[in-house]
Amino acid sequence: MRDTTAAAERIVAGLSLDDKIRLLSGKDLWTTEEAPGAPSIMVTDGPHGLRKQLATGDTLELGKSAPATCFPTAAALGSSWDTELLEEVGEALGRECRAENVGVLLGPGLNLKRHAAGGRTFEYFSEDPFLSGHMAAALVKGVQSQGVGTSIKHYVANNQEHRRMTIDTIIDERTFRELYLTGFEIAVRESKPWTIMSSYNLVNGEHVGESRTLMTTILREEFGFDGLAMTDWGATYDRPAAVHAGLDLEMPGSNGSWDEAVKDAVASGTLSEADVDLAAVRVLDMALRAQVPDAGPADFDAHHALARRAAAAGSVLLTNDGILPLKPKGTIAVIGAFAEAPRYQGAGSSLVTATKVDAFLPLFRDALGAKATVTYAPGYDARTGAATKEQLDEARAAASGADTVVLLVGLPSALESEGFDRTTLRLPDGHEALIAAVTEANPKTVVVMLNGGAVVTPWADKPAAILEAYLGGQAGGGAIADVLLGVAEPGGRLAESFPVAQQDVAADRNFPGGLTQVEYREGLYVGYRFHDSAGVPARFPFGHGLSYTSFGYSGLSARKSGDGYTVTVTVTNTGKRAGSEVVQLYVRDVESTVYRPAKELRAFAKVALAPGESQKVTLRLDRRAFAVWDVAAHAWLVEVGEFELLVGSSSVDIRERKIVKVASDDVLAPSAGPVDFVATDEEFAAMLGHAIPTARPVLPFTLDSTLGDLTISPVGRRVVAAVKKQVEKQFNLADAAPDDAQAGMFASILEELPVRGLSMMSDGKVSLTSAKRLVRILNLTTPKAWGKR
Ligand code: BGC
Repeated sequence: MRDTTAAAERIVAGLSLDDKIRLLSGKDLWTTEEAPGAPSIMVTDGPHGLRKQLATGDTLELGKSAPATCFPTAAALGSSWDTELLEEVGEALGRECRAENVGVLLGPGLNLKRHAAGGRTFEYFSEDPFLSGHMAAALVKGVQSQGVGTSIKHYVANNQEHRRMTIDTIIDERTFRELYLTGFEIAVRESKPWTIMSSYNLVNGEHVGESRTLMTTILREEFGFDGLAMTDWGATYDRPAAVHAGLDLEMPGSNGSWDEAVKDAVASGTLSEADVDLAAVRVLDMALRAQVPDAGPADFDAHHALARRAAAAGSVLLTNDGILPLKPKGTIAVIGAFAEAPRYQGAGSSLVTATKVDAFLPLFRDALGAKATVTYAPGYDARTGAATKEQLDEARAAASGADTVVLLVGLPSALESEGFDRTTLRLPDGHEALIAAVTEANPKTVVVMLNGGAVVTPWADKPAAILEAYLGGQAGGGAIADVLLGVAEPGGRLAESFPVAQQDVAADRNFPGGLTQVEYREGLYVGYRFHDSAGVPARFPFGHGLSYTSFGYSGLSARKSGDGYTVTVTVTNTGKRAGSEVVQLYVRDVESTVYRPAKELRAFAKVALAPGESQKVTLRLDRRAFAVWDVAAHAWLVEVGEFELLVGSSSVDIRERKIVKVASDDVLAPSAGPVDFVATDEEFAAMLGHAIPTARPVLPFTLDSTLGDLTISPVGRRVVAAVKKQVEKQFNLADAAPDDAQAGMFASILEELPVRGLSMMSDGKVSLTSAKRLVRILNLTTPKAWGKR
């Protein structure tokens, strides 16, 4: 047992039931309650930079937080496949938290990218759970090495923004285990996060935070989580049930709204006092762990330099006909307003007030000096993405008058944010029109993309090169200049597939689902698991990314060791420049009695090599690398037989193969998947092991009805209008002057907030009893037929 846990237990032993219950909810938006001997601490966002609001309490001014380094978003960090780098970034984040007296950083986010249109994919690492879990673990280790906690989020199956507070994710147990839980499992086992954050959504009919199976049996007893579980902000539904489930801390506090209910539950015996004690101990344990000596101010310059290095390491060179690295000569036209007004982070709770922001254009000019002439045309409106005829004409003229063109495009901030999903995977029309105009005027064009998630690129064969720079953080502009000029290499490999068309995504037909339910009918066929199994090539496959040098693979060998294999392969830099390669090891079950994706990533390593240098890379495969989740046995089982080890430079660029034999006595129960990659009703019911649940109807209203749902009733409309007015006033939205993305996020929060969330939004002023009364009145005054929409 930790010393801090023992100390917390001693403190809790001396507290009254009332005082223990008080500890189970936050003091305000960002701090915990204190007890004698254990102070209150601050927990705050997260994930790729510290967002410590300057005014806590009654304002949601996302833009007004203490200056902090805005590191590349998880989309870029995940593409680095570099655990050492992520640890380093984590250390820097931890130092900044410590300097600001923040005890726990709310992140990293490690939900899976089920569909690239998910509004928060920029905050998540990958479509693959193995990669996501290891990247998250590295970041956690780094932050926590500084005596600051992390909160891996959002546990679990929170893979979209649409109705995230009330949606019920219907998912079969095998997929849930093999994809959506695995990342959390890896991060918990590898890095022992201090805390975990439960998501808003339900899974198979149960709120995650009220599921004892999810919060205790799986998380603590199986994965070995030994920290504190907190709610996402406002993800409190039935607090006594959540305490029993193992969800220790309600955030933010709701002004004691739930204390009576918890006390009543203890009195009536539906909740044991021991459960309350356990949660109270975990709250104080976390507070005591966070008591580390003052470390002085953070070194923002050093962190800016690290952010620049990390952005280059996470940028992915998608195509290159040899134009890159650019020759620093002649006339280079820079086109695209993002060159001056960069997109470098996403919107929502992760919004960082950067210490400074490097735009690409001035740094590119500086780097070239007198060696080349740089011209510039904005080409489109940075805010809307729209391009006028004049802007297109000007861009065309700049392009044809130049030797080479650097064209920056991507997604304007209003298109991707926490709170809502993208409606299309295409770039805005203005950007596509600009790409067409510029590449026609001058094919020697390098397209650089700044966006938080995969896009479709029907224009991809037009430019001479495409660099995916993602949302690269505050130093991203300098990193792009470094990569284009060859000062740094494009170190990234895609952590997500870029489909040819949106319909190619197997999840697309069930994304983002209906009003109350989303069905994961694609099962295991997410990302490359779909593309490779279905023979539907991605435009840019998972793991893909070009280098400025080239690599050779040789001598793959696999030696049995322990319950798995130790795999070695020699990688040689066969080119003329130093560079790094991401060695990827996939496993394919040669013959399987149950459905399995064509191959799955089971190990990777990033190696840096000088020209001509070789290195023997060792990769470890444990038994789990060959296993499937057997629903009948409720365990990871391995089917005896041959497995093919595929080592390569991407999920489709396999350089070395080897068959190994795996011994096993396990007998697998039958497990059928979606034959055509999207389950029919019958197939989905078979995967679930029961009939597909009927989606919750809109009527009668319940505490889970959203404010948007209420507006089908005239009385509801009046109530919602009043609530909106009050919320706008309370959160000072008029003065906060949110940008487009934030405005969109607040609009969707107000539309999608469940009735029970009113308590949180009103700081406990609208009690649960009033919320229940409201629901009753609305049901009495709303004819049932209006629920059909
Ligand atoms: C987000 C979390 C975030 C929290 C606090 C929630 O709406 O989902 O990721 O940590 O707010 O800002």
